Amino acid sequence: MTGTSPVRPVSRRGLLTGGTLAAGGALTGAAAFATTRTGRGGRQAADATPVASVGSLVEPFYGPRQAGVATEPQAHASFVALTLQAGVDRAALGRMLRLLTDDAARLTQGQPALADTEAELGLLPARLTVTFGFGPGLYRAAGVDDRRPASVTDLPAFRVDRLQPAWSGGDLLLQLCADDAITVAHAQRVLLKDSRPFATVRWVQQGFRRSPGVEPSGHTQRNLFGQLDGTANPRPGTPMDSAVFVPDGPAWLRDSTTLVVRRISMNLETWDLLGRADRELAVGRRLDTGAPLTGSAEHDEPDFAATGPDGLTVIPDFSHVTRAHVTDDRLKILRRPYNYDGLPNADGHADAGLIFTSYQADIARQFLPIQRRLADRDLLNEWTTPIGSAVFAVPPGCPPGGWIGEQVLG
Ligand code: HEM
Repeated sequence: MTGTSPVRPVSRRGLLTGGTLAAGGALTGAAAFATTRTGRGGRQAADATPVASVGSLVEPFYGPRQAGVATEPQAHASFVALTLQAGVDRAALGRMLRLLTDDAARLTQGQPALADTEAELGLLPARLTVTFGFGPGLYRAAGVDDRRPASVTDLPAFRVDRLQPAWSGGDLLLQLCADDAITVAHAQRVLLKDSRPFATVRWVQQGFRRSPGVEPSGHTQRNLFGQLDGTANPRPGTPMDSAVFVPDGPAWLRDSTTLVVRRISMNLETWDLLGRADRELAVGRRLDTGAPLTGSAEHDEPDFAATGPDGLTVIPDFSHVTRAHVTDDRLKILRRPYNYDGLPNADGHADAGLIFTSYQADIARQFLPIQRRLADRDLLNEWTTPIGSAVFAVPPGCPPGGWIGEQVLG
């Protein structure tokens, strides 16, 4: 959680509405801790997370790179894709992005937005990040297609795809993440209100991961198949830096990245019918520890060549990790997925899956080869179906006084 700091008192209004309590983390004694007693196997309140600290933590907004990519994933996310209205050109986009940058800069630091109609909801940022993504249509509308990273273009069709327009495409993406659902809802409301003169909502996808304090930090989250999901992600620092962010080039490209968002439905009903051993073979890792089938600890290197007494590879050749595995650090992708769990149908069958997001310097060089191998042959395809797809450039960040997109549209 590098760069995270407690929020500072920001205004007289903040002082009067309780912002300082959260800000200073000044609660003392028992009041500062969750007091709920826990169930069997649980631990008691004495070592629980200080409740006041979660809401007041702040992620930096300004900087050469946008927040929300290398940021330790927060518990709640909303991905909001917008369609630009006809006639919104480069100048209008500049006005829109100045406005939305100002909202994001304030809300992420625990300050209400300008003319915030629910100012109190802006005081607990809970590590809010607002990340802006530019779809291919934004570059066309602004007449700056020469500044679109070449790999930000519609993905080819894959034979596993059952894509629905309702979950696909988009000119501008707002990725809102925080450790608190109310903070995300408020940020979404503010940013959408200010977007109205320029754009309409195309789709919204809301997702979740483990809440802060539920597990010690550093734990890999679980998806709704019960798998540890994220183990083989590149670690922060190098080599993740070079795989995810563009290291050089013109100002509109340097420190940018690209984002693929795939909504992947997971069939929990048919997954339920599978025995534990088969579930582990489908992925190539154990369900309890996340260890590869050839190892004993989560971060052991998988041995794809090891064979068992039957002469077959211990990790099946068509397991998800065998097909997805990449050895060259520069070709790795950073996965930052969120679980979704919509309304069950009348039979009680879940509408569940993954909002799969992957960041990489270049979609064609890094994401596509992996996706092609998985679409071609991956045991997990039996239980998963991509139903939405979108690609965005994530332009560089900006310094105080600047705005997101200024290198592209300025
Ligand atoms: C619902 C769909 C998916 C599920 C449930 C899923 C689940 C998993 C699990 C459990 C792992 C092993 C632990 C880990 O390293 O995180 C894994 C690894 C991985 N997945 Fe997926 N995944 C899905 C879709 C995808 C897609 C669409 C891609 C990319 C196109 C992808 C790329 C990867 C990569 C690169 C790894 C690491 C492989 C390695 O080097 O060991 N996954 N996934």
